[in-house]
Amino acid sequence: MTFAATVLTLYPEMFPGPLGQSLAGRALGEGLWSLAVRSIRDWATDKHKSVDDTPAGGGPGMVLRADVVAAAVDGVANTTPVIALTPRGAPLTQAKVRSLAAGPGVTLLCGRFEGFDERLFEARAIEQVSIGDYILSGGEVAALVLLDACVRLLPGVMGAASSGVEESFESGLLEHPHYTRPPEWEGLAIPEVLRSGDHAKIAAWRSAQSERDTRLRRPDLWEAYARVHRPLARGKNNNARSGEPEEDT
Ligand code: ADE
Repeated sequence: MTFAATVLTLYPEMFPGPLGQSLAGRALGEGLWSLAVRSIRDWATDKHKSVDDTPAGGGPGMVLRADVVAAAVDGVANTTPVIALTPRGAPLTQAKVRSLAAGPGVTLLCGRFEGFDERLFEARAIEQVSIGDYILSGGEVAALVLLDACVRLLPGVMGAASSGVEESFESGLLEHPHYTRPPEWEGLAIPEVLRSGDHAKIAAWRSAQSERDTRLRRPDLWEAYARVHRPLARGKNNNARSGEPEEDT
């Protein structure tokens, strides 16, 4: 089954953009996913083709009209979930990406200006998703991010390059660091264990690195992980049971 992506935007030329390249681009060419891009302006009804208006109650900027955007959503009617990209949405997670990628596709609604007239979300079943706590100039880049994350999980897209399960976030931890040739560069050597050929030792080292880096860089992820995997160590020294060194090595 082809993963069907539909994008509603005021800037259709922004697509496929980077998704026309590399793995996603090849997969698009091979029909592993499809992309339909439509301009929201096609559903404007007045002679100026207006899609936005001033905010009720006053204030800066412009708001996307619910009637025009709803007509666009209805106009592309399909069976895929509809997601509006907005900094007011629920944070995008790998779990959400995985669940979307396992489905029939997605219809993405790209906001601009101050956002959407809120009544849109009362009148239609539209989820709101954010790609992070920062403000983009519009939802298009966020839509590209969401699609990229989904497409790489589709069967046949990554080939043998990844099973998907060892990567950052799939396990709830950041992935371990990687190294490649040359064995020494600018006086920096690849950690000895990686040259030992001892696969069990390498796996243990990688797992310890994953835990250490997650604990140091993403205490939020570590807290959630440790609650399940390190219940006895929580609140004490989370490092005590994992056996890895405290400092960067
Ligand atoms: N539009 C503007 N900023 C955004 C964000 N952080 N996530 C999703 N859509 C956006």
